[in-house]
Amino acid sequence: MTGPNPPEIVKACCATAYQSDAVTAILGDSYHPGGLALSQHLGRTLRLRPGMRVLDVAAGPGSTALLFAAEFGCEVVGVDLGERNTARAREAARQAGLADLVAFRVGDAEQLPFDDASFDAVVCECALCTFPDKPTAARELARVLRPGGRAGITDITVTPGALPRELTDLAGWIACLADARSLEQYADLLTAAGLQTTAIERHDDALRRMVEQIDARLRAYRMTTRGALALSGVDTDRALALAAQAQRVVRDGAAGYALLIADKPAETPKS
Ligand SMILES: C[S@@+](CC[C@H](N)C(=O)[O-])C[C@H]1O[C@@H](n2cnc3c(N)ncnc32)[C@H](O)[C@@H]1O
Repeated sequence: MTGPNPPEIVKACCATAYQSDAVTAILGDSYHPGGLALSQHLGRTLRLRPGMRVLDVAAGPGSTALLFAAEFGCEVVGVDLGERNTARAREAARQAGLADLVAFRVGDAEQLPFDDASFDAVVCECALCTFPDKPTAARELARVLRPGGRAGITDITVTPGALPRELTDLAGWIACLADARSLEQYADLLTAAGLQTTAIERHDDALRRMVEQIDARLRAYRMTTRGALALSGVDTDRALALAAQAQRVVRDGAAGYALLIADKPAETPKS
């Protein structure tokens, strides 16, 4: 459900926003609450290890894919709609000397360009919330996982109906809030896709810290000429108003962040 915005517009706006210099300036090199510390925790929880083939859906700047390869020695493929982020991520892999373990390609989470059962693990951080067709995206995650493989999702959670109107438009969508779901709804999406949720953790503090940091950086950038340049093209007053609304819903407990692990059942041998 994308309201008055057609799904293709929502997707294109999201991909464009997340590869802008302004987003890099505000969010740094990892675009989800909890940053790379939470990604590392996700990798440990998924028990990633050398020899495993992992897919990072909506990989953004590619920092999680690089971390997984460097920390766990697995082979990682990152896929994202953003062409500029994909090119940057490829270059980062080359510079880190990880190009033989990590690859990036452009693609849509709702139509993954990979064969069935081609990955041991699939992760998706802070992005399911932005996909217009969540049931299809969840089915795609499940399709590319091998039987017995595991999916690790971290995402914004929102209590249904709790967002103020200002956070439900296209800007709210890009801010990952407008179409975020409750933890139960995410678990239901995974179940409907044929996965079995085996672990759930709340990381609400990570979202609180992230919105505070966004607010602080926006204020600091607004005060300096270099900052204004870094954020050129961004309406800082509007962004600060959104950040204030976001802080309010996080403080009220209406929005949070969660981690879900879901297994694809192993095939039972035919008797
Ligand atoms: C909040 S960012 C998260 C990026 C990355 N997972 C991270 O945590 O650093 C959301 C990402 O989803 C990507 N995205 C949005 N819709 C997509 C789609 N339909 N298919 C693939 N990527 C998509 C955007 O381009 C953006 O990079």
